[in-house]
Amino acid sequence: MNRVPIGIVLNGVTGRMGYRQHLVRSLLAIRDEGGLPAGDGRRIWPEPILVGRSPAKLQEIAERHGLTDWTTDLDEALARDDVQIYFDAQVTQQREKAIRAAIEAGKHIYTEKPLADDTAAAVDLYRAAVAAGVKHGVVQDKLFLPGLRKLARLVEGGFFGRILSVRGEFGYWVFEGDWQSAQRPSWNYRSQDGGGIAVDMFPHWQYVLERIFAPVRSVQATIVTHIPSRVDESGAVYEATADDAAYGTFELEGGIVAQVNSSWAVRVYRDELVEFQVDGTHGSAVAGLRECHVQHRATTPKPVWNPDLPATEQFRAQWQRVPDNEEFDNGFKVQWEHFLRHVVDDAAFPWDFAAGARGVQLAELGLESARTGRRIDIPSLDL
Ligand SMILES: NC(=O)c1ccc[n+]([C@@H]2O[C@H](COP(=O)([O-])OP(=O)(O)OC[C@H]3O[C@@H](n4cnc5c(N)ncnc54)[C@H](O)[C@@H]3O)[C@@H](O)[C@H]2O)c1
Repeated sequence: MNRVPIGIVLNGVTGRMGYRQHLVRSLLAIRDEGGLPAGDGRRIWPEPILVGRSPAKLQEIAERHGLTDWTTDLDEALARDDVQIYFDAQVTQQREKAIRAAIEAGKHIYTEKPLADDTAAAVDLYRAAVAAGVKHGVVQDKLFLPGLRKLARLVEGGFFGRILSVRGEFGYWVFEGDWQSAQRPSWNYRSQDGGGIAVDMFPHWQYVLERIFAPVRSVQATIVTHIPSRVDESGAVYEATADDAAYGTFELEGGIVAQVNSSWAVRVYRDELVEFQVDGTHGSAVAGLRECHVQHRATTPKPVWNPDLPATEQFRAQWQRVPDNEEFDNGFKVQWEHFLRHVVDDAAFPWDFAAGARGVQLAELGLESARTGRRIDIPSLDL
């Protein structure tokens, strides 16, 4: 057989991310394409071992996709010689313990973000993975979105001149669960279960800002709970103890000012669920998940402020669409391909546990800023 089979324990595969993005859209999609080419010409072939708490759900998913390997016993799965990778898409609070077990079993680890509940634990996982000599990575899917890839292309091409500011808007209305069901799991709205929009979204903004623009040097945030009670999956009312909106200002190295609003209590009047506007001396861009539009200094209009007159210009129409110029695959799949090549061919993989720990750190310090009403400098992690 011309295949390199790679046993991958997928824990949390019954969840939204584990099932749709990681199993179906990434690993099974790679198999549908005949595997991933390895350096020696063979094909890397993911062999998923589904792990979770409910035998019925695991069996149902396995049967739906023609898979046979599933278990509710994580230790048993980790003890197998034909397993090389442990992947974690469980609720965040269950993650650290499971990753530790996988490191002890000598498996390479790939995980959803956030890496851990707090920075100390995330740093400790990094050190443990390095000490064990296993490879490690954290999902940073937004970097692989077409819109943000185009934005990165503009930065690399020098389009902006000197970048002045970045403004991000993320969010949509998450229904309270009473007269219409909520479209996100209820644990996201309980801090005791690892919920909260800051711990969910600040890790994303950390890597987006760091990789596309510059490292984050300080954070100042207002973080609140706008909707105080919600209704869970079983119809019971619960107190929303976690934050559902985080308004953050981040200073980046080199003086770029980034502001990112994240909210599950906002209605969308944008083209996409997340959008970043970047303004530079030579041009500006607005990027979403897929699209990106630019305005060069030479085509910038000269509006004059006059509240007595209706707007005379169609500002949106003055922007130009950035072409794709390449085919964009699913972002989760692209990052999986990098990780599989990292494991099989030792290819570079910069999105490691140290990077994941920086994401956790930004969320933690953002929450501290909101609690204390202070701007907080981001120290380098002592790895
Ligand atoms: N990269 C992204 O864009 C992105 C988006 C959403 C969520 N996530 C991350 O993915 C992880 C899973 O989020 P999700 O939205 O798929 O959640 P989900 O509630 O849909 O799935 C959670 C999974 O964890 C399992 N689980 C294990 N122990 C559990 C316990 N004690 N209580 C409840 N569930 C338990 C569930 O069975 C399920 O398989 C989280 O860490 C979250 O931060 C990442």
